[in-house]
Amino acid sequence: MFFKKSQKAEKKVCVDERLQHIAFIMDGNGRWAQKRGMPREFGHTHGAATFKKIGRYCESIGIKYMTVYAFSTENWKRPQNEVDAIMKLFDDYIGDCFAEMKDDNVHVRFIGNLDVFPQSLREKMERIERETAHKPFLLNVAINYGGREEIVHACKALLHEGKNEICEADISAHLYTKECPDPDLIVRTGGDLRTSNFLLWQSAYAEYYFTDVLWPDFSPADVDLAVDAFYSRKRRYGGV
Ligand code: IPE
Ligand code: IPE
Ligand code: MG
Repeated sequence: MFFKKSQKAEKKVCVDERLQHIAFIMDGNGRWAQKRGMPREFGHTHGAATFKKIGRYCESIGIKYMTVYAFSTENWKRPQNEVDAIMKLFDDYIGDCFAEMKDDNVHVRFIGNLDVFPQSLREKMERIERETAHKPFLLNVAINYGGREEIVHACKALLHEGKNEICEADISAHLYTKECPDPDLIVRTGGDLRTSNFLLWQSAYAEYYFTDVLWPDFSPADVDLAVDAFYSRKRRYGGV
């Protein structure tokens, strides 16, 4: 579809202004590990490596905004040892991967209800957000994120401001993603066909792409397939 002329040999896909924001529901880590006779946590570790690779790739093909669903407001229901392993991975990543990303073009933001996290972790997140704020590629990491919680949070903020009349733009302006346009394309790996409470407001006219590939196996070539599918569609926004 859209190939960079200078990179004909590797046929790398390249996007234009129609595809600025891509979001990923990174699903399938647990099944990936279980297929290998390993504990689910093993899948999360591999999933974290995939996240890094896919982030770099999306930036390299011209995506401006990327959002990844790392942990939902419902994921606390999981066994405590799995939740602990995910939180540890996240904590390690904050110190390692995100710090590394400072040298890339990435502006990291954490979206979700962050109040539940220990202050030390929140401070680390704030520091990374601050130190990368001038970078051009915005990466939203959704953690303790739920689309419904986000909408309620936005409404509470509006009430707090004393508003008694609100419009759609007011809600959009108070979402965690207020700094970026709505996603153009939402990719869900792992074979399930649902949103699982991800970007409920922002996805009103997003294109969805579902794949059976489990997140740890997801590769740049799979991004290319999703991008090609996106460009093969006609977005009508209710028109004709
Ligand atoms: C997604 O993978 C990662 C998180 C929800 C944290 P899962 O852990 O849901 O993996 P599956 O869907 O059980 O295979
Ligand atoms: C969605 O995956 C959440 C993340 C990828 C972080 P889940 O595995 O939690 O979703 P369900 O439970 O299958 O709907
Ligand atoms: Mg899952």
